[in-house]
Amino acid sequence: MAPRTFHIAAIPADGVGHEVVDAGRTVLDALASDSGGEFALEWTEFDWGSDYYSRTGRMMPEDGLEQLQDFDALYFGAVGWPSVPDHTSLWGLRLAICQGFDQWANVRPVQFHPGVLSPLRKADQTDLDWVVVRENSEGEYSGLGGRNLSGRGPGNEVAVQSSLFTEKGCERIMRFAFDLARKRDHPKVTSVTKSNAQQHGMVLWDEVFERVAADYPDVDSDRCLVDAMAARFVLHPEDLSVVVASNLHADILSDLGSALAGSLGLASSANLNPERRTPSMFEPVHGSAPDIAGHGIANPIGAIGSAALMLSHLGLPAPAARVERALGAATAAGALPPDLGGTATTKQITATVLDHL
Ligand code: NAI
Ligand code: MG
Repeated sequence: MAPRTFHIAAIPADGVGHEVVDAGRTVLDALASDSGGEFALEWTEFDWGSDYYSRTGRMMPEDGLEQLQDFDALYFGAVGWPSVPDHTSLWGLRLAICQGFDQWANVRPVQFHPGVLSPLRKADQTDLDWVVVRENSEGEYSGLGGRNLSGRGPGNEVAVQSSLFTEKGCERIMRFAFDLARKRDHPKVTSVTKSNAQQHGMVLWDEVFERVAADYPDVDSDRCLVDAMAARFVLHPEDLSVVVASNLHADILSDLGSALAGSLGLASSANLNPERRTPSMFEPVHGSAPDIAGHGIANPIGAIGSAALMLSHLGLPAPAARVERALGAATAAGALPPDLGGTATTKQITATVLDHL
């Protein structure tokens, strides 16, 4: 039988994005050629990002989304470089893709890695194993607002940055979270809110959560204010399974989660269009890390873990599990980069993962 061929767009973008996307591609290519003809990958690399901006004045071409539309999946690095304002680079590429393709569910696992010392003493797989489900299309990152509304003159500028919460947007991400929880050992969803202070959007969020939870009597549910949730991540992470949160809250909490697991470099993520009308995008949670870019020491684990999420999405759960196991074996064998207290380079870690595939 001819292998199923998946067409993947690689967008390394900026900084360590290049190093970690390279690592992920190496692992995926090895897996494909070792899959006994189960699947093949065909890559197309796009040079979009901050260098592209310096040459063209755009982060990606005007028809960028059209160029990406027909790929089976997008594999993304990280965007942002000191030469371009961060809001220009983020909105011009990553948010343009996520929002343009309605990748409304952002899935961010927080997992313990064998051999990695967590700042949570005595942490293991039972403490650190949850998934942050981030509303990825509206909320605080709706882009609504403006500056200098009243023309009050220099020094008196005002800016409004509004959050947008729709009943439909809340409902679809919450149903997604409950469906995901049903597949986990501990079927439970915790909603992150701030409805004590934000009496409009977050109260709607709470009401929709209550309604959706009632449709899933087999799944436990509770809710927690975002500030208390930050403390709970540190003090009582063991009773979390699926955490559903708004765009901003989940952005912050998932960085905290990956730091608890040991480093931002460990965290993987999937930006999903669950209806599969558009390609979904897989990327590490971290940014372009200009402070270490080019030194060959970027932690590739988050990017390789994101490649495993991509395989699952493509309907390849067994190869995805192979990558997960190889990652665990590599960290357990002591293949740790400097951000985890080790000395291994990006290439050495990638090679160790290949050894354990
Ligand atoms: P960052 O995630 O790039 O770096 C934060 C810290 O974590 C740095 O000390 C960095 O060295 C370390 N770090 C990050 N990834 C690492 C890895 N793979 N291995 C080892 N250490 C790693 O966040 P920062 O510094 O706030 O932002 C830098 C740029 O990245 C900005 O332009 C920002 O807008 C952009 N950014 C892009 C994101 C994306 O494309 N998804 C997400 C977050 C930030
Ligand atoms: Mg973030």
